[in-house]
Amino acid sequence: MDVTTDERDFDRLVSADERVEPRDWMPEGYRRTLIRQIAQHAHSEIIGMQPEGNWIARAPSLRRKAILIAKVQDEAGHGLYLYGAAETLGVERADLLELLHTGRQKYSAAFNYPTPTWADVAAIGWLGDGAAIMNQVPLTRCSYGPYARAMTRVCKEESFHQRQGFEAMAVLCAGTPAQKQMAQDALDRWWWPVLMLFGPSDEASAHSARSMAWGIKRFSNDELRQRFVDATVPQADHLGLRIPDPDLRLEADGHYRFTPVDWNEFADAISGNGPCSRERIAHRVDAHEDGAWVRAAAQAYADKHGDRAARGAAA
Ligand code: 3HC
Repeated sequence: MDVTTDERDFDRLVSADERVEPRDWMPEGYRRTLIRQIAQHAHSEIIGMQPEGNWIARAPSLRRKAILIAKVQDEAGHGLYLYGAAETLGVERADLLELLHTGRQKYSAAFNYPTPTWADVAAIGWLGDGAAIMNQVPLTRCSYGPYARAMTRVCKEESFHQRQGFEAMAVLCAGTPAQKQMAQDALDRWWWPVLMLFGPSDEASAHSARSMAWGIKRFSNDELRQRFVDATVPQADHLGLRIPDPDLRLEADGHYRFTPVDWNEFADAISGNGPCSRERIAHRVDAHEDGAWVRAAAQAYADKHGDRAARGAAA
């Protein structure tokens, strides 16, 4: 098959580690892969607001409440940048939301788990955002420009989230035995869902090889999961907490060996059967319907003034 000039230009951009921009020619599979990944990522950010948002009214102090409100708002902002990045590929935000609401597009399975105590909020910040940074810093070098640039800001904010989560965990660990136990229980609940954030094993990952060849992903799911475990075990030691994996051990090569994720549980959680899957989607759909008046107001403003930003908000 003849290689067209367009294809040659695209391959040159990718192999020279330059950025592909919205008006550049790109293979249809590249465009579809980006839409799939960026949309799932955006959905994860906004569904991810729920497990923590659940604690805003019950945060243990005004200071914790202010920090948590800011964090949850940041996640909404991440969703916004990501839907914006997806729109540069020719899709509409309203259509992507429809796919989320009808279960036809995925979001990160970790957010289908409950947050029964305040320590779960701390654990999500420490572990969930810690995993997000590990996974998303390489995406700042993604070959698609708008996604890579959105990741730069997202990662700066996630770093702050990780630190506030670790600090909240440290305060609990230095507290009463009951508070420390609460922190340990939250770690026990979140460790495995967070390891799932990195996706299926390399053997089972349907998209990794292609995405890495296109410079969308820079590291495989297992490589990033390993980096996260290596970075996090010493942090748990520092807190005086125990990672809930009896087979975890440090090998001579400096890496921790750990028990593989329960892939049956993962399959359940990503297919809408996680402990809170139905609740998360129902809540999301309600929030969207409740926000109809905001979209109508933005639309009315856009119609009157022809304002582009307002038209975006009306979507
Ligand atoms: N939860 C739900 N679905 C998952 C998943 C997870 N943890 N991991 C993988 N999947 C899905 C994939 O989306 C894909 O589904 P599809 O074929 O229907 O589209 C399927 O499982 C096979 O997985 P692959 O490894 O082949 O898929 P990818 O190459 O896309 O890799 C990924 C998965 C590593 C999650 C990659 O998409 C990625 O790096 N995405 C960007 C980061 C992201 O979305 N993170 C989500 C968390 S956001 C967050 O953490 C917010 C913070 O504030 C806490």
